[in-house]
Amino acid sequence: MTTATTGYTAKTWSNLKGLKGISDAQLEEHFKLYQGYVNNTNTLNQKVEELTKAGKSGTPEYGELKRRYGFEYNGMILHEYYFDNLTPGGLAIAQDSKIYKKISEIFWDWNTFENDFKNVGKMRGIGWAVLFQDPLTKKLSNHFIMDHENGIPAGYKPLLVMDVWEHAYIGDYKATERGKYIDSFWGNVCWKTVSSRLLD
Ligand SMILES: [Fe+2]
Repeated sequence: MTTATTGYTAKTWSNLKGLKGISDAQLEEHFKLYQGYVNNTNTLNQKVEELTKAGKSGTPEYGELKRRYGFEYNGMILHEYYFDNLTPGGLAIAQDSKIYKKISEIFWDWNTFENDFKNVGKMRGIGWAVLFQDPLTKKLSNHFIMDHENGIPAGYKPLLVMDVWEHAYIGDYKATERGKYIDSFWGNVCWKTVSSRLLD
């Protein structure tokens, strides 16, 4: 089990300066929030370990810590996927790539996929739009994840991850302008990274 002393280390993304439509100041604030998820995950692990060792597994305090784990841990991991799949100005997808062909086949054509992903991102609520791959069928599908943990299909692999919490764009856009932020996000997607996540 990980502890605060042997726990997760926050990643850094110095390569993301100059994203189109997402300011460096917005990004810096977002990095700070991400750091909070890393810290909280480590703290949770440490406290749970202490309570378990002390024979206090059945206490309300233990239960509340356990309940928070999906929120904090997924908050950390989804942000890492999100920042990792960005690059200033984006890296276009190669039309002869495996992922382009797979997406075009499963979603009928590229534009239908893009439209579907963006519309999932525009769903009301706090959360994420994620293109997942089912490791059993290898099929791809877009999903809305509420908060950081509700709606993730167990075992599915995230390929493309977009944060649509207001904190991801409120520095650059109004709360009602999520669509504009999503278009900016789309223009900065590193499809090379997304392709590398494809299972098969
Ligand atoms: Fe976020």
